[in-house]
Amino acid sequence: MGKVDPAFIQEPEHRPRISHIEGEGFPLIDLSPLHSNNVSAIEGLVKEVGKACKEWGFFQVINHGVPLEKRQKIDSDSRKFFEQSLEKKRKVRRTEKLVLGYYDTEHTKNVRDWKEVFDIAVEEPALIPASPDLDDKEITELYNQWPEYPPELRETCQDYGQEMVKLACKLFELIALSLGLPADRFHSFFKDHNSLIRLNHYPPCPTPELALGVGRHKDGGALTILAQDDVGGLEVKRKDGEWVRVKPTPDAYIVNVGDIIQVWSNDKYESVEHRAMVNSEKERFSVPFFFNPAHYIMIKPLEELTNEQNPAKYRAYNWGKFTASRRRSNFQKLNVENLQISHFRISD
Ligand code: OGA
Ligand code: NI
Repeated sequence: MGKVDPAFIQEPEHRPRISHIEGEGFPLIDLSPLHSNNVSAIEGLVKEVGKACKEWGFFQVINHGVPLEKRQKIDSDSRKFFEQSLEKKRKVRRTEKLVLGYYDTEHTKNVRDWKEVFDIAVEEPALIPASPDLDDKEITELYNQWPEYPPELRETCQDYGQEMVKLACKLFELIALSLGLPADRFHSFFKDHNSLIRLNHYPPCPTPELALGVGRHKDGGALTILAQDDVGGLEVKRKDGEWVRVKPTPDAYIVNVGDIIQVWSNDKYESVEHRAMVNSEKERFSVPFFFNPAHYIMIKPLEELTNEQNPAKYRAYNWGKFTASRRRSNFQKLNVENLQISHFRISD
């Protein structure tokens, strides 16, 4: 990734601003009431989560209950993996059949991202439809690929994945309560969840003003929990349209509403655009956990949240088929836009 290939260059309107704006008022939520039985503290927490989902679609959490050692372990194993030669990393490269593993060719909105990644399914085998074709009922089993080095990566990721699932379930209980629903309203969707851990490495970039680590996008799943290191670079599009930087907070996780919550909540909570900047001096690491429902789940606005005055804004779609379609377009460079939830929007 030495010289800047034109494939990495963003259109002028999507280039980052080097002097960035810090996200003043970006919500920081203390989850300690979850570990107590204090009813009024939990009520306060539910309100905070609801407000953050509505006003930002993003928030940071502290006192989340994830042991710091587990985060440090995945961070150090990720560094060890990416430090290796390209030749070693390519031994666990993803292919059209083996869709999990290493790759450094991701494009977001047809511009190449300045990053390399390693994808891991949390539950193995991960089940997804063999093709996006609605008539094709075949289901594929996806297996992880594990590198020789570092040898403990598998165990580290399994441990970390379990912690993330626990945290995601707690967050979903808060989100359910904030929408006036029973705490366990979302549980059944995640029984055979299809979640993913991604190790991201953003190498230093000689032209950070022209490229992005990850181009602007929304997360297509239900909820994302991101661990970023102390370098910083994540930017979120605030509701007023301004891109603002999320300042790294030690041991905090960044949580964001994905497209599926937007549909379930019938647009009450919107999935927000974000992107990652790179810089010319420091490499950066991040670890998103994408919490996704089972492949067979049909995604549609929850009945409790719709009525005659507020009719469903989306037609139902199948999560497995949606993700299979995204995967296909990730792999083959198609000259069509990725499948988006807006394609299921019912026009007024
Ligand atoms: C992503 C993402 C941001 C980051 O991988 O979907 O938004 O800071 N990453 O790495
Ligand atoms: Ni994202």
